[in-house]
Amino acid sequence: MAYSTPTIRPARWIDCLSVWFIRNEPSVRFASFNKEEIGLLKHIWWFFGRLRKKDEPFWVAECWDSVVGYLRLDRQLINPQTPCTFTLSIAVEPFARKRHVGQELVKHMQAK
Ligand SMILES: CC(C)(COP(=O)(O)OP(=O)(O)OC[C@H]1O[C@@H](n2cnc3c(N)ncnc32)[C@H](O)[C@@H]1OP(=O)(O)O)[C@@H](O)C(=O)NCCC(=O)NCCS
Repeated sequence: MAYSTPTIRPARWIDCLSVWFIRNEPSVRFASFNKEEIGLLKHIWWFFGRLRKKDEPFWVAECWDSVVGYLRLDRQLINPQTPCTFTLSIAVEPFARKRHVGQELVKHMQAK
């Protein structure tokens, strides 16, 4: 399939299942702090809570009319005296890798 530049946009509720599939892909679990497979109900609960956090960016990359990757910044509250830090989570569907989707997600984040 020909490569097309991904469209990067904020995650929406409709992306819930696509993000779940990507999150559970073995190489994504392997690269994550929590390596366990994520159950669907747990994911749905987390996803809708996560979408409500408007000051913590969560973008998806769309190619060929489907979501092929995501990047999110999760706020880390270490203690109120330290400056706010974020954890970056990025993942791309295996079939869409090495086509600069990850790079486009990072470029989008840097531009914001
Ligand atoms: C890491 C990941 C998001 C990269 O996505 P991608 O769309 O394939 O990356 P790109 O095609 O945009 O690659 C951009 C550059 O990063 C490099 N790169 C890609 N994945 C890399 C990795 N795992 N380690 C080191 N460099 C990597 C590429 O070689 C490329 O450099 P180049 O242009 O000089 O060749 C993807 O491999 C993935 O989802 N991996 C599993 C989850 C993960 O490891 N997430 C990171 C920890 S949160």
